[in-house]
Amino acid sequence: SSHLRTSKPKIVVCRDLGPDVMPLLVKRDDLEVVLWTEDCVCDREWLLKNVQGAAGIVIVFSELVNAELLDAAGPNLKVVSTMSVGYEHIHVPELVERNIRLGYTPDVLTDAVADISVMLALMAGRNANETMGIVREGLSLIKVSHTSNISPSRTVGFLGFGRISHATLARLIPFGVTDCIYSSNPNSATSSKKERDEAILKQHHPQLKSLRPVDKDTLAKESDVLFVLAPGGPSTRHLVNEEFLRKMKKHSVLVNVGRGTVVDSDALAKALREKWIWGAGIDVVEGEPHVGKDHPLVKEPRCNILPHIGSASFETRLAMATLAVENCLAGISGQEMPAELDV
Ligand code: DGY
Repeated sequence: SSHLRTSKPKIVVCRDLGPDVMPLLVKRDDLEVVLWTEDCVCDREWLLKNVQGAAGIVIVFSELVNAELLDAAGPNLKVVSTMSVGYEHIHVPELVERNIRLGYTPDVLTDAVADISVMLALMAGRNANETMGIVREGLSLIKVSHTSNISPSRTVGFLGFGRISHATLARLIPFGVTDCIYSSNPNSATSSKKERDEAILKQHHPQLKSLRPVDKDTLAKESDVLFVLAPGGPSTRHLVNEEFLRKMKKHSVLVNVGRGTVVDSDALAKALREKWIWGAGIDVVEGEPHVGKDHPLVKEPRCNILPHIGSASFETRLAMATLAVENCLAGISGQEMPAELDV
């Protein structure tokens, strides 16, 4: 009867989670599952309409979770499950106020994203985008030289020093890297946890001669390869701006695989155009997913751009989708979630 149907907990899913994971939801006849099936960002109007009465929602980072959405969902909503490690698209205080739990997907994507960090550092350093462009144009390769590599004499810097930065650093040790500096949010972890992390890193990587926290000014001035791996949101917006970029070394490379908003796009385009830095490798860009081909960074030959594919390997997306579903199911039944954000 319609009464039975409407009394089942409803779950709204904003992304196709793939043939291995979808059955975990759609085969459950004790749930009402509503899916966004188009192969594009979930339409807001559709979501606002369908979220009514939902007990759980499974989203990705393109869905803004704010009072508007939560009010549209109403009092049944128990859990928001995002298939991402970042959660700046979610207004956490609004969840706290309504007693809604938040699931996310840390750890499972760390290795995939660290791989992309290294790939972009190499691509930017060796000028992959511009030189591949030369091949595509059918032009002579003779003029290609003076690229910047990752070598033992290079100082590696991190803006944000969490899991993905640690995994990126681990991948760079075999390149002979011995000097690492970093700057991280003073509020992101207790100082004793930071000291513990640092001790573990030094123990794991005895090759590291120097690992030190520095201020932003030093980070800009001393990094040969700088990885931007800070979370998004207002507190990190444009940490890398014109002033920062002007302090960087001429042969340095900037890599951003965290959030586009941390780097001022116009300033980075100017830095590349006027050769304040050697090159950039970015997987994220301000304003994404709407980045047109006239974007100032798309036009810069020394900007190696990927369309936010850091976590997009088969295994990683499978692990993220599985975890997102498990978080959602645990959350609606009031159980312990495998990865719940402690809000
Ligand atoms: C994340 O997990 O936050 C990524 O940016 C989305 O894949």
